[in-house]
Amino acid sequence: MAYKRLERILIQLDTIDSTNNYAAKLLKSTKVSEGTVIMADWQHKGRGQRTNVWTAEPGKNLTFSVIFYPELSVDRSFYLNIMASLAIRKALERYGLAAEIKWPNDILIREKKICGILIDNQLSGKKIKSAVVGIGLNVNQFDFDVSATSLLLETQQEQHLKQLLDEVYLQLDFYYDLLRSSNYQLLKKHYYHHLYRLNHLSEFEDKDGRFSGTIQGINENGLLSVLRDGTKKSYDIQEIKYC
Ligand code: BTN
Repeated sequence: MAYKRLERILIQLDTIDSTNNYAAKLLKSTKVSEGTVIMADWQHKGRGQRTNVWTAEPGKNLTFSVIFYPELSVDRSFYLNIMASLAIRKALERYGLAAEIKWPNDILIREKKICGILIDNQLSGKKIKSAVVGIGLNVNQFDFDVSATSLLLETQQEQHLKQLLDEVYLQLDFYYDLLRSSNYQLLKKHYYHHLYRLNHLSEFEDKDGRFSGTIQGINENGLLSVLRDGTKKSYDIQEIKYC
């Protein structure tokens, strides 16, 4: 299949507050090629979803951001998340790992988080002018709290960071091309194929407390659709927790 490849320019930093912040500043100050990667050995203020911080031991993990100009309407912004999740999942598969995608921004192996995604969009009216896709992938780190894992823990092998970055980049290139050619159905089909707890009755919590429900998918705006007592409800990230 012939497609326009992303231009891979790598900006490698020793230490930075956050690669997403660095990318945002870069976008404001200069013209940046699509596909530019900003990677840091260590982030001293790595950002996670909402107000969370992202911590990773220096030099042992992949913490990087990629710049895109997706020509996407804001309503479809979640497709960037789908694209990045699928790319990481596929890259991990190439390392012999079966990962699942936990809506909205986690990649899991055996229920443990191996990767988090943070996307910052810059808007122009109702269009996404540019997007910074931030990826934190646990690679050669050994010590975690109980709910996280790394490639080292899963494969019992140290991994070469740059090779893994190349693999993730290759997959981003592939799935971004599907996005660029508006292949939304196909992206969603692949996403559902790997979506954690899809069609399984399981436990969640919302503002009214704990409940049993079944994830039925995501809607066009990226909200999670959950069937609960025979009624379908849509949830945004801050409205629902997995138990
Ligand atoms: C999450 O799971 O809450 C999202 C974590 C995203 C972490 C990555 S690391 C590279 C990029 N720069 C940041 O400050 N955050 C993202």
